[in-house]
Amino acid sequence: MTNPFDLTGQTALVTGTSRGLGQYLARALAQAGADLILTSRRRDDLLPFAAEIESLGRKVIPLALDVRDQHSIATMAEAAIAQAGQIHILVNNAGCNVRKPAFDVTWDDWNLILDTNLRGSFFVAQHIARHMADRGFGRIINIGSVTSVFGYAGLAPYGASRGGIRQLTMSLADDWGQHGITVNCLAPGWFETAQNRVMYQDKEWVDYLIDRIPLKRPGEPHDLDGAVVFLASELSRYITGQTLLVDGGISTGAMRATVKPKP
Ligand SMILES: NC(=O)c1ccc[n+]([C@@H]2O[C@H](COP(=O)([O-])OP(=O)(O)OC[C@H]3O[C@@H](n4cnc5c(N)ncnc54)[C@H](OP(=O)(O)O)[C@@H]3O)[C@@H](O)[C@H]2O)c1
Repeated sequence: MTNPFDLTGQTALVTGTSRGLGQYLARALAQAGADLILTSRRRDDLLPFAAEIESLGRKVIPLALDVRDQHSIATMAEAAIAQAGQIHILVNNAGCNVRKPAFDVTWDDWNLILDTNLRGSFFVAQHIARHMADRGFGRIINIGSVTSVFGYAGLAPYGASRGGIRQLTMSLADDWGQHGITVNCLAPGWFETAQNRVMYQDKEWVDYLIDRIPLKRPGEPHDLDGAVVFLASELSRYITGQTLLVDGGISTGAMRATVKPKP
């Protein structure tokens, strides 16, 4: 019997793969058989990870991309399509964050976060989806967050960008379904990466976090594997516009933050 999760012969473009969750997601797709296009602002920063993926026997195309620059998006998309021939899967992962009380957020903070996380994801998807539509097939996976669904103090622009990603996912699913393209949002909970490492150095905060996660630990590198491979695979063919939270259950316990559970 053929493996319905097998991605052999498909090419996945994963943005933001110089470190962090982008590498976890890309590695899972490569282990399922996909060839990869990797991006970050500096191409050289991709080379160690590209070598790791090549050692699995996959083809890798590392490309520079700044998602805040429309010319960079157009240039990357053109090069990716020319070099890969066909792109079947796009994972819109590149993103950034600035943690601040809402009173302290500046105009530049807002622009940085919204331009990177929301505008960048849209225009990368637009370029790649035109190519996918010509071939009548595509899987787009936008990376969201638990803040796509819930509010969190200190993350006002970030939460707005992630809520926007969830809404964008639904709009694009409605728009591009007719072209054989599914668009879904994979929303991770709390994973330690360069973006938030400073928070994990605070033991009191980590204990507080773990107390609120039903599965009693933060996310680990392979915790996103099943969701990303599923959303990229043939088995998710009739699922579009959805947000899949991979968060150890923290979103189910939203009331736990304020209301002590009674036995
Ligand atoms: N960590 C978590 O707990 C968590 C939870 C939910 C969602 N997320 C989201 O998941 C994604 C990855 O998070 P992470 O924790 O892995 O972050 P990270 O370690 O800071 O990595 C961010 C990645 O995005 C790339 N990037 C940033 N700005 C870019 C730009 N202007 N143009 C192109 N690429 C850019 C970075 O590449 P260069 O800097 O090399 O260009 C890097 O590869 C983000 O969108 C984040 O918001 C993270």
